[in-house]
Amino acid sequence: MKKIEAIIRPEKLPVLKAALEDSGYPGMTITEVRGHGVQKGVTQQWRGREFIVEFLPKVKVEVVVSTDEDVNRILELIKANAATGEIGDGKVFVIDVADVMRVRTGETGPSAV
Ligand SMILES: Nc1ncnc2c1ncn2[C@@H]1O[C@H](COP(=O)(O)OP(=O)(O)OP(=O)(O)O)[C@@H](O)[C@H]1O
Ligand SMILES: [Mg+2]
Repeated sequence: MKKIEAIIRPEKLPVLKAALEDSGYPGMTITEVRGHGVQKGVTQQWRGREFIVEFLPKVKVEVVVSTDEDVNRILELIKANAATGEIGDGKVFVIDVADVMRVRTGETGPSAV
């Protein structure tokens, strides 16, 4: 089992959420986050002055899946639905998950995903 942790542009969330649900991945966790990558934020002009915005708003989408094939499908969905081609499109981390339990039933392992 793997967890896909995708940090994306907030405005891309609705379309990615729809694509995930349509592709059979209804379970997800969404968190509003702030961060920066290699460019370390942006510089903005306001009333003739420069302001450094160090941490930009992003959305973190977490999806846990059973197989590596699911991971590949979701990476494709993210590429197809969350990319603009500009810097700051985001990043995806794939993390090993040791176990899952569905709280209602107590079942564990891949069938609980
Ligand atoms: N190495 C990292 N560790 C943790 N979070 C990261 C890392 N790199 C990026 N992020 C998160 O992803 C968000 C988007 O990163 P971003 O798309 O700017 O990455 P990048 O590597 O700078 O790529 P690009 O050159 O396309 O901008 C950041 O705001 C931050 O929240
Ligand atoms: Mg960047």
